[in-house]
Amino acid sequence: MIIFVVPAPRSKMGCAISGLSLVAKPAGDIRDEDVAVVNLTLQQIEMIKESWKVIQEDIAKVGIIMFVRLFETHPECKDVFFLFRDVEDLERLRTNKELRAHGLRVMSFIEKSVARLDQLERLDQLALDLGRGHYRYNAPPKYYGYIGVEFIRAVQPILKERWTDEMEEAWKALFQYVTRIMKKGYWEEESNQCSNSAESSKERPEKKNTRL
Ligand code: HEM
Repeated sequence: MIIFVVPAPRSKMGCAISGLSLVAKPAGDIRDEDVAVVNLTLQQIEMIKESWKVIQEDIAKVGIIMFVRLFETHPECKDVFFLFRDVEDLERLRTNKELRAHGLRVMSFIEKSVARLDQLERLDQLALDLGRGHYRYNAPPKYYGYIGVEFIRAVQPILKERWTDEMEEAWKALFQYVTRIMKKGYWEEESNQCSNSAESSKERPEKKNTRL
């Protein structure tokens, strides 16, 4: 059995910039399950790799289904996407070129994750950078868990009778692993941005009212 350990986020507080001052706010997204250990057995790794060979043939379709369902079940996630937030009719998204391209980017990340299951440091770095990017995209950690659920719903019919409860557990474990590191990346980036903002607000003290 391989044990992956994800360190706890450094801080339980986030920061928000209000005018020139920094105000503390509770992160709210952090739960025990976010900082615990993820176990993936060698058998699960094999199952993921084998099933990926089948899923791979339909990656564009899976990417689109996954996001259309995400927006159906969690409309608040659509608002995060500048390109899709104003699209009311989700059926139109099924043929939307941008959604297809986005779905393919996410599926390509999953493909890289599967390929790196034997090189964990490289997978960790990839997921950490992705989490940092998601801070810049304004996509908060509380939504990350939804992607694995929709991925599983989308690939099940492709694998048909080859899909098993064990396979489902294996994919869930991979998504838990990746999303925990993404969250760590998000929080690190949040904390860097907070420190940078605090530094620059020290350098640019608030203008005081001065009597002439
Ligand atoms: C397992 C969870 C997720 C994975 C693996 C993932 C993966 C990705 C990837 C690979 C990209 C392409 C850009 C890059 O490489 O930095 C991306 C972009 C993005 N993601 Fe995610 N994502 C996840 C969850 C989410 C969620 C839940 C949301 C929103 C609620 C979201 C919002 C975005 C946005 C807004 C972008 C930028 C889109 C653009 O401007 O092109 N992501 N994501």
